[in-house]
Amino acid sequence: MKLGIWTASAVAVAALLTIAMLTTAGWDRPPIEAVQTGYRGVAMEEVYNPREVAASMEVNQVPPPPWPIDTVDMSGPPAGEIYENVEVLGDLSVDQFGRLMTAMSEWVVGDPAACDYCHNLDNLADDSLYTFQVSRRMLEMTEYINADWGETHVAPAGVSCYTCHRGNPVPEAIWFEKNVPIRGIVGNLAGQNTVSIGDTSLPFDPFTPFLVEDNDIRVHGLTALPTGNRTSIKQTEWTFSLMIHMSEAMGVNCTYCHNSRAFYTWDQVPPQRETAWHAIRMVRALNNDYLIPLQPVYPEIRLGPDGDAPKANCTTCHYGVNQPLYGGNVIDQFPSLMGPGPAQEARLSN
Ligand code: HEC
Ligand code: HEC
Ligand code: HEC
Ligand code: HEC
Repeated sequence: MKLGIWTASAVAVAALLTIAMLTTAGWDRPPIEAVQTGYRGVAMEEVYNPREVAASMEVNQVPPPPWPIDTVDMSGPPAGEIYENVEVLGDLSVDQFGRLMTAMSEWVVGDPAACDYCHNLDNLADDSLYTFQVSRRMLEMTEYINADWGETHVAPAGVSCYTCHRGNPVPEAIWFEKNVPIRGIVGNLAGQNTVSIGDTSLPFDPFTPFLVEDNDIRVHGLTALPTGNRTSIKQTEWTFSLMIHMSEAMGVNCTYCHNSRAFYTWDQVPPQRETAWHAIRMVRALNNDYLIPLQPVYPEIRLGPDGDAPKANCTTCHYGVNQPLYGGNVIDQFPSLMGPGPAQEARLSN
């Protein structure tokens, strides 16, 4: 049978559409690498495109310090005695202090000489610029992360301003509360049916309930019969929305932390799941204790549509990589970011 001209063109169009779909829906040409992360036979593996990993490695590198830590002059009276308006870094030597200021300019503004982003150059002790006030709190936040969340989450790599800022005053991944559209009799959509996290139509703001508020993430019934678990499908969708965010933030899939045979289990999973459990608590603390209280300090242009402060999630540090900056150590060269005390002294004596 001969194909009519219309059938032939329909076939051609269909073929073109298929190719277009394969390319836009993330089809990757081989070779692709798979790395096993759990027990054999349970499909716990990560799939990587080595070309993408190479490109991502190039942009996720720890920047070199202005000068190495072992050449820093630690002698002389501390900065707190020399300068007028120092509240956080008072225990540093003057050389150490100047080196950190230079690094901060590079980490946050992308230019080691951009002192004027935070300072009135006529009087460096003047703290009237909002960027100065925010930075002082950021210094305290960074010390808090390294000192209080070291063992459970960020050690040994540690966290510096660069981990989040990457040379930009506003880190690439920040989030604001989103208005939930209310549509007539359909009622509260909880952000569903709009393209959101990971191109799904799951609730689009899983951050407010879990990374600010302390709502229950666990949804599984743990008995064979429905005896008492009142968790709804809607609650489950919020959990999935958060989980997709976490996976995207780290560039991994669900089996990096779960044995998908039983998402609830903690005894058949890699240690990363526990690290992630602590991360959720850490990010909640960063938002509630540091970032949200800065709201009155920011100019209006930095606030969200509802006037809320910019907040952090997993992507703010991770940038799509399982360990920020591929695990590159940012703290050995800047032990003062551990905060004063024994942790910093231990780093310095190494
Ligand atoms: C990202 C913001 C930021 C940048 C950029 C920055 N500083 Fe600072 N600077 C601060 C903060 C915050 C303090 C207060 C630190 C504290 O309270 O411990 C400070 C304090 C100082 C002080 C002490 C002033 C006094 O008399 O009390 C000096 C000196 C100083 N900075 C120099 C510099 C120099 C030089 C540069 C550029 C190489 C620079 N800073 C870049 C935020 C910044
Ligand atoms: C956990 C991630 C994180 C770390 C670590 C961090 N910051 Fe921030 N920083 C943020 C977020 C989020 C904002 C809000 C962005 C905005 O202003 O819109 C911010 C804002 C700022 C701003 C205001 C910039 C502007 O133009 O509005 C400055 C200045 C700043 N940070 C300095 C620092 C310094 C200095 C350090 C290290 C001592 C640091 N930050 C460490 C997340 C971080
Ligand atoms: C980086 C690690 C990590 C990744 C990746 C991850 N999860 Fe989770 N998941 C967790 C942690 C941690 C909890 C428990 C959170 C808590 O209790 O605060 C959890 C909880 C859950 C729960 C609730 C379990 C229960 O006991 O009710 C489900 C369901 C779930 N995850 C599904 C997923 C799915 C689906 C994906 C992939 C889209 C995924 N997770 C990716 C770490 C992860
Ligand atoms: C303040 C920065 C910061 C934030 C925010 C952050 N992390 Fe991390 N995370 C780190 C650092 C740094 C490491 C690497 C620590 C090391 O092993 O040296 C890490 C490592 C991890 C690991 C271990 C990965 C591995 O392969 O060993 C997991 C899992 C993880 N983070 C999950 C999360 C999740 C989930 C969130 C959001 C709820 C999150 N992190 C938010 C800084 C952060």
